[in-house]
Amino acid sequence: MELIRIPRIMQESCKKYLLKGRTIGFVPTMGALHDGHMSLIGRARVENDIVVTSLFVNPIQFGPSEDFEKYPREIENDRKKMQNSDVDILFLPAGDQMYPRDFSTFVHVDAVSKRLCDSFRPEHFKGVSTVVAKLLNIVSPTRAYFGQKDFQQTIVIKRMVKDLNFDSEIVVCPTVREQDGLAMSSRNLYLDEEQRKAAPVLYRTLNIAADAVKSGTKSPAEIRELMRALLSAEKFITEVDYASLYDPETFDEIDEKKRDILIAAAVRFGDVRLIDNLLVTI
Ligand code: PAJ
Repeated sequence: MELIRIPRIMQESCKKYLLKGRTIGFVPTMGALHDGHMSLIGRARVENDIVVTSLFVNPIQFGPSEDFEKYPREIENDRKKMQNSDVDILFLPAGDQMYPRDFSTFVHVDAVSKRLCDSFRPEHFKGVSTVVAKLLNIVSPTRAYFGQKDFQQTIVIKRMVKDLNFDSEIVVCPTVREQDGLAMSSRNLYLDEEQRKAAPVLYRTLNIAADAVKSGTKSPAEIRELMRALLSAEKFITEVDYASLYDPETFDEIDEKKRDILIAAAVRFGDVRLIDNLLVTI
């Protein structure tokens, strides 16, 4: 596995492969790799000639009071995992390579960024779309892989790719879960033992809501209430940021039955914010 730290060198290296007619599969990450990340790398490996990953804890997608400083950094471990998964190139840029002092261009995706998580993490999606735009321009992948766990992120990125004519296919991969249903996340490392034991309530609640949607016995408003009640009853959950049924394209809350429904929730276990979602097609 080749390790490249400089954007310009990365760009030249990828261009060489593309000129030879090779396909590039790209998996951007912030590291502290778990099986969710590894599933994206595995899929990229199967579908492309060359697999490129990036590891960059992107400062501009964290709010001022968020966990940028304490975000888990396990670079050596991550490198080994990537190497063992047959990654061809790891892009590991330093902060000032991505954001030099005079950096002043941001990508803001309107509408879909301004829903769900945005009220609780303003500017987050601007940081995500800006860094992903940069990474897509540096790597020029044939396909780029993202997890459904961060559903809103996938919609923001797809919108940006379409609107700005990026020449990459965006592939969304299923959420990988722990045995008890908790969606894998680098932030699960922050949970203490009791919070970790309680955390599967999030996935359980989404499933109960999905069953209610499918059985058609309850209205969206009743399901919303049920979700809030189930989550609020868990004593380690200190805040329910949102828990509801949404149109998966616009993120409007839905009040009547639809064919495709996004069931999504974000909750806080103290300082630790967890999100999860299920897509239901009736
Ligand atoms: P990070 O949280 O490291 O996640 C990298 C990729 O792994 C994202 O596409 C995310 O959706 C996916 N992922 C995380 N948990 C997953 C799980 N349990 N199952 C399947 N996929 C999972 O998301 C980011 O980094 C950043 O915002 C990034 C896109 C790299 C831009 O900085």
